[in-house]
This record gives sequence, structure tokens and C-alpha cells, in this order.
Amino acid sequence: MKKTIVVLTGAGVSAESGIATFRGSGGLWNGYSIEDVATPQGWHANPEMVLEFYNERRKDAAKAEPNAAHRALAKLEKAYDVQVITQNVDDLHERGGSTNVLHLHGILRQVRSTTHPNLVYDIGDKAIKLGDTCEKGGQLRPHIVWFGEAVPMIERAVRIASKADIFIVIGTSLVVYPAASLIHYVPKFAPKYLVDPNIGGVDGVSNLTIFQKKATEGVTELVDKLLGEV
Ligand code: APR
Repeated sequence: MKKTIVVLTGAGVSAESGIATFRGSGGLWNGYSIEDVATPQGWHANPEMVLEFYNERRKDAAKAEPNAAHRALAKLEKAYDVQVITQNVDDLHERGGSTNVLHLHGILRQVRSTTHPNLVYDIGDKAIKLGDTCEKGGQLRPHIVWFGEAVPMIERAVRIASKADIFIVIGTSLVVYPAASLIHYVPKFAPKYLVDPNIGGVDGVSNLTIFQKKATEGVTELVDKLLGEV
């Protein structure tokens, strides 16, 4: 039977595709403060600005290409059951070839109705503006989990993490909860790997091997090692 590898990724895995990380930029995110564009309060105060911000991010993500780290993770599927859990809202894992991707914090290319949250639409790289509505007339908003909002996918993610034979963490500062707590649900005996040029947030984690490297280099190396073990 194939072993299960669970991979938790953050902004660092997409950094070398040209998508800015969140906390690497002095509290500003592409020139915006996170509170203004990634909270329900920000949305109520200035929905136009929030829509514009995500329109730009959506366009940037559509132009970006998967990098060697995304592609290496897809290669792992040759020998393992692989489940990617990502905090990223881009679709670079999918375009890099991964087939099981759970988005904890939403998806840039999707929008949903503010009045009927079950109405979710795929809009590709298109922009939305005030006045763009669902079929029932409710304003559309980004299908993104903002700070202060529930993370509906977390229970599924916890179940997945608790069944990992091998767990890999790539490019996340591990400061945003509940995502950062996932590693603590992984079985104690399971080998764990961390790929990140800056190490933190992994105190007390058992069986941990650290690749203190950028994703393209560290993930490629790790994937070669894991494929060599089967
Ligand atoms: N390769 C690997 N890791 C990298 C690279 C790289 N080339 N460049 C930077 N990193 C690492 C940084 O060292 C840091 O640990 O990526 C991490 C990025 O951390 P954050 O910017 O905090 O991003 P992330 O952990 O994904 O943020 C979590 O916070 O803003 C919210 O909802 C948003 O999903 C996001 C969540």
C-alpha cells in the first residue's frame, strides 16, 4: 500500500513564482495594510478597495507560473498518496500538477454571494466590482477567508493531517491559526520535514528534519530523497 504524504504550504512555496509573501514586506501587503483588505471590517469600510485589491492579486496569480517546488510535489504522486493542504489562494499547485489540493484560506479565482454564501462562482482571472451580483441579486465578494472569519476546511484538514505517514511543511511562518496547529495532529512517529529559509514555529515537534532552503531547491531535494526511499 502507498504511504500517505501530507504537505502543508504557505506563501513561501509561491514566492519564487513572483507572488509576494505576507509577512516579508514590513506589515504592508503589496502596498495595502492587511487589516484594510483582509478583514470583514475592511470590507464594510471600503468594499471597492477590497475588490480592487483582490482583482490585482487574481491578475498577478493568473500571470504567475508554477515553480520547481510545485512541480516536484506533483511528481511525488508517482509513488505516494499525496494530499496538499495550502494556505495559498493561488492555483499554482493545481497548475503544477498536484491532484489533491485543499485550500484552507479560499481561492482567488472564485467569488461568492454575500447574501447566499453557497453560491460560489469560478471567474478565472476576471475582475469584479461593486454592483456585480449573484443570480439572486446579492453583491459578490472574494471567496477568501479573512482574518476573524471561520475556516470551514479546518476540520477536514485536521482529519487528513492525523492520518499522515509523512508530513511536509513548506514556506509558512506558522503564525496564523488554526493552520499552524495542524502539525500537532500529525502522529508522533511520522517523519516530518520543514522547507523554509527562515525557521520558526516548530518548537517541540518530534521527528523533524529541516531543510533551511528556498522552496525550489529544498523541495526538489526532499522529493528526490522520498522517491528514492520507495
Ligand atoms: N521558499 C520557501 N519559503 C520561503 C521563501 C522561499 N523562496 N521565501 C519566503 N519563504 C518563507 C518565509 O521564511 C516565511 O516563513 O515563507 C514564509 C511566508 O510566511 P507568511 O508571509 O507569513 O505566509 P503564510 O505563512 O503563508 O501566511 C499565512 O496569513 O496573511 C494570512 O491568510 C494569509 O494564508 C496566509 C496566512
